[in-house]
Amino acid sequence: MKNTVIVTGGLGYIGSHTVVELLNANYDVVVADNLSNSSEKVIDGIHKITGKTIEFINLDIRDYFKLESLLGFYQLSTVGVIHFAACKSVGESMKEPSKYYDNNVTGTNNLLKAMKRYKADNLVFSSSCTVYGQADDLPVTEQTPQKPAESVYGRTKQICEQMIKDFHAEYNYNSVLLRYFNPIGAHESALIGELPNGTPDNLLPYVAQTASGKRELFTVFGDDYNTEDGTCVRDYLHVVDLAKAHVVAMEKSTEKNLKAEPINLGTGKGYSVKQVLEAFETENNIKVNTHYGNRRKGDVEAIYADPSYAFEILGWTTKYELKDMVKSVWKWELNLQNKTCSKNTCKCQK
Ligand code: UD1
Repeated sequence: MKNTVIVTGGLGYIGSHTVVELLNANYDVVVADNLSNSSEKVIDGIHKITGKTIEFINLDIRDYFKLESLLGFYQLSTVGVIHFAACKSVGESMKEPSKYYDNNVTGTNNLLKAMKRYKADNLVFSSSCTVYGQADDLPVTEQTPQKPAESVYGRTKQICEQMIKDFHAEYNYNSVLLRYFNPIGAHESALIGELPNGTPDNLLPYVAQTASGKRELFTVFGDDYNTEDGTCVRDYLHVVDLAKAHVVAMEKSTEKNLKAEPINLGTGKGYSVKQVLEAFETENNIKVNTHYGNRRKGDVEAIYADPSYAFEILGWTTKYELKDMVKSVWKWELNLQNKTCSKNTCKCQK
């Protein structure tokens, strides 16, 4: 029986949480990751949580021949491919567009070619709500017209979705396009979480690192938006909820013969940057040294999901609330801090 799932970018933030859920669901997992924004140490965390082992291949998806041989090697046992490997920083994508087109677009094209070559069915694609651009009406449904994305990162996700759709003309496979809103939080064990290399780009890692003393100052990017408190609004969802959606999406994709089916994954609630910051401070009883700065290029003002289609087609809905998410972020940060802290700089009560 086919039981192997190939996960590109499986040691990254969302990838590692998804690998845990796949192992919990008794799949065999092969991770292909180039460690560009992850670490081999994540494998230990996955093992401690699940008691199971994975196959890890250090592989860059831009390397077509290596990717092709991986798919060839696991051809007979592969039940699906979950594709996370990509660069994901909105800000960086505006400064280094070629890096984004190369990793995200060329990498995805390589994967599609290799899947066709070895007749791998079933692709779960890690897309983003960024494909909607700044939508005119909120919440966004899968039918909301797509505006040009505000960032190069967003444009690469729009292009990849289109490639996956177009590829159905060449090759008959099943696929889903999971449009994530803003995943945050960490596994309850605090053994895996978001582990950005260098300075974080995303909101919660930056907030947590400022709270722990690793960063001096957290900057809110703009407080002059046309929102209730002037800061951007996003739909934050717990990464474990999101991870579970991948397992069920892969299974339903085959069961329902889905072809490039877009599915929003969010909670349906929008929170401003200020509200998230306040929740982090209140729930964890800690102050974050904050200042209000300029807008970040490429950011949209406000976006949140209509998640009803995810429930209808996958039977999936989120379980965790904002307070759970921000608490798990801090627990994970303290755990990291415990491994590396020096008494002068951190606040981890060690
Ligand atoms: C975008 C995508 C999201 C994707 C993510 C990957 C959109 C609408 N969302 O998230 O689907 O998963 O990229 O990285 O395109 N902020 C600060 N200060 C900081 C960092 C962030 O104020 O130091 C603010 C941002 O301006 C934004 C919010 O926090 O309003 C969230 O930012 P971030 O965590 O970077 O995610 P997005 O860019 O929204």
